[in-house]
Amino acid sequence: MKRVAIFISGGGSNMVSLVDAMQTGEIDAEPVLVLANSADAGGLEKARARGIKTAVVDHRDYSDRASFETKISQILQDNVVNVICLAGFMRVLTAEFTAQWEGRMLNIHPSLLPKYKGLNTHQRALDAGDSEAGVSVHLVTAELDDGPILGQVAVPILDGDTADDLAARVLLEEHKLYPAVLKTFIKTL
Ligand code: GAR
Repeated sequence: MKRVAIFISGGGSNMVSLVDAMQTGEIDAEPVLVLANSADAGGLEKARARGIKTAVVDHRDYSDRASFETKISQILQDNVVNVICLAGFMRVLTAEFTAQWEGRMLNIHPSLLPKYKGLNTHQRALDAGDSEAGVSVHLVTAELDDGPILGQVAVPILDGDTADDLAARVLLEEHKLYPAVLKTFIKTL
């Protein structure tokens, strides 16, 4: 069975949706590690509660991205990880790291890529007057929020929506899309 690591920076609700789908057998893979770049990431406790090993590699403890990633790579190797799912992991990874994991690292991004790469996706969709927003799951390449799209779901933008309203509506779809994409993807490895 493929061994999956999930990288988080925050509350980890997408991580939970992935872990739950693996632990119920819906996805034929094993969640072996949740890695955060801050000990404050709320998702760490949720991972521990689900019996998942956790690791913290705080980027502030490293002088550059390469040494930060060397530590991460060591942990991944120690845990014999086959696949990485970025789930709200808010650090940019180097071209070297993404090349090492090419075809084996997924990311979820809260926009209809290629629109709105980067931050503040929902506010940008509102500011543009878009009629819909959404979420994408894609393979990670060296370019930020780029790489082949594996799945997308659109949600309507409603009159009077704030960025928070939209984020909440999109997040519900994130929790369905990411497990569905991983389920299919894992079979291709
Ligand atoms: C999610 O909305 C995810 O799509 C987004 O961060 C949130 C994390 O929530 N990711 C990005 O913006 C990546 N650039 P979660 O910690 O509850 O899963």
